[in-house]
Amino acid sequence: MPDFIVTPWEVSGEIDYDQIIKEFGIEPIDEKLLFYIKEIAKELHPFLTRKIFFAHRDFKWILDEYRNGNPFFLYTGRGPSGDIHLGHIMPWLFTKWLQDKFDVELWFQLTDDEKFLFNQPLSYDEAYQYSYDNALDIIALGFDPKKTFIFSDIDLAGVLYRNALKIAKKITFSTIRATFGLDNSANIGQIFYTSIQTVPAILKSIIEEKNIPCLIPHAVDQDPHFRLSRDVLPKLGYYKPASIQCIFLPSLQQGGKMSASVENTAIFTQDSPAEVKKKVNNAFTGGQASAKLQREIGGNPSVCSVFKYHFMLFTLDDKEIRNIESRCRAGDLLCGECKNDLIQKINSFLKTHQERREKARPKLDKFLIKERTDLKEIVKEKLKKL
Ligand code: TYM
Repeated sequence: MPDFIVTPWEVSGEIDYDQIIKEFGIEPIDEKLLFYIKEIAKELHPFLTRKIFFAHRDFKWILDEYRNGNPFFLYTGRGPSGDIHLGHIMPWLFTKWLQDKFDVELWFQLTDDEKFLFNQPLSYDEAYQYSYDNALDIIALGFDPKKTFIFSDIDLAGVLYRNALKIAKKITFSTIRATFGLDNSANIGQIFYTSIQTVPAILKSIIEEKNIPCLIPHAVDQDPHFRLSRDVLPKLGYYKPASIQCIFLPSLQQGGKMSASVENTAIFTQDSPAEVKKKVNNAFTGGQASAKLQREIGGNPSVCSVFKYHFMLFTLDDKEIRNIESRCRAGDLLCGECKNDLIQKINSFLKTHQERREKARPKLDKFLIKERTDLKEIVKEKLKKL
């Protein structure tokens, strides 16, 4: 039995990312690729140099095409089942960096259908409402409205279904069972769902009526979907979508990822300063049992969730993070001071984010696209013509 699980619906245990690279068959992002990215983007995001975005499929091909005048578009998404936490934000911050550096379109899928099908207590209306609520967090990150198309699957059901049909016909139930571990108790919507998550990888190709490369930034849990997309889409005449994949922002407690469903492991974008303070102060650290002992033998940042939050999101300056690490190991930096620094950085990020989130409300129309679904009006119009 593996001591960790990574699927689109469950992530648990101490994840061994080297093993994931082997099992999933993804490529590590090596020095050569980093050099190539820097050549084109002119700089490297700390998520790359710190190996937070650590693996890919065909990213080099995306860069080759880009350099040869065939730019890609970005596609990413969110399963709207609740509030957004800092883990979700990570791949989106990187997506924004890619949009800025490469000046490309982003197609953002809100899979209210997925969450309705997979999350037992969630009602259809709740999932749909979370799409609009979560869109505020996405807009707050500053994507370019001229180049960003956000959609709820329910709102775009027509075009998604028309194309998902062609994809679904090429995937057998046994492949779905093997890829996602679904068993006989799965509802039939769950079996079909992955074909809907594949469609946005070709939406721009459909609109432009020509093949356009697609790059999908995501955390590694979503890879099984896109493994299937890459099998099927060439059979329909499209490119294989490429991906760039990140590790998980961990839980604030010991082990596992930051998860919305486990209390006190996650910080949400709408948390108050007091909630952030409480959660960080209760976090699992690599500190010693007493301040005296810590001064004597130092702390252990490699197991410390507070240090991981500094490293992965809130202390992106290299000199500053090295300073935190060495002072901790030497026993000069005590957990209280390190936690206070993190609390202050998270709260300052959230203050700005929460203001931008409110300002995003009147902007929803500038980002969201939907198909016309008012059947009553359509029937009325049809009858008028007679
Ligand atoms: P969802 O809502 O579970 O997650 C949204 C995005 O956040 C990533 N993620 C994390 N990244 C870092 N640390 C964490 N602790 C963490 N938890 C989640 C996810 O990998 C994802 O990138 N089915 C998808 C929605 C979707 C999608 C896509 C995602 C549809 N199309 C294309 C990525 C790309 C879902 O439920 O994501």
